[in-house]
Amino acid sequence: MRSIGVCFVCLGNICRSPTAEGIFLSQVRAAGLASRVRVDSAGTAAFHVGNPADARSAAAAHARGVALPSRARRFERADFESFDFVIAMDRANQSDLLALAADADAQDKVRLLRSFDPAAPHDAEVPDPYYGGPSGFEHVFDLCEVACRGLLAHVRSQLS
Ligand code: 4NP
Repeated sequence: MRSIGVCFVCLGNICRSPTAEGIFLSQVRAAGLASRVRVDSAGTAAFHVGNPADARSAAAAHARGVALPSRARRFERADFESFDFVIAMDRANQSDLLALAADADAQDKVRLLRSFDPAAPHDAEVPDPYYGGPSGFEHVFDLCEVACRGLLAHVRSQLS
């Protein structure tokens, strides 16, 4: 039976992409698709490799019943071979990923997360909350939650 791999990517892999990963994982499980959809996250930069999610992201997610268990790692060129969707949080992540991709097939896997939110404007981003206050982390959670619902619908359509 076909399965699909999804990797969420931000800069540090401690705020936005672990948030999207945790949300998507809980949506995938609730949909009964955990055996068909593999979920991961990574960063384009290596500053925080090995670290858990930022405590502010973990707190915002915990308040909404979502755990963020992943540890930061850097996205590598070989990841393009093991994932079907490489989901960028902002346009800088997207252009870094497109530059890393070895060929057009790899580039075609790169999408902006908010492109799966039908209400979001074209090229909408999940903004970097790192240097801001707690409300930025709640905003990131809300943006990821809505867009992940659209992504799940898209992934589900590819599974059938
Ligand atoms: P993320 O946020 O890309 O959503 O994980 C950031 C985390 C760390 C830094 C910047 C953004 N940093 O500059 O260390």
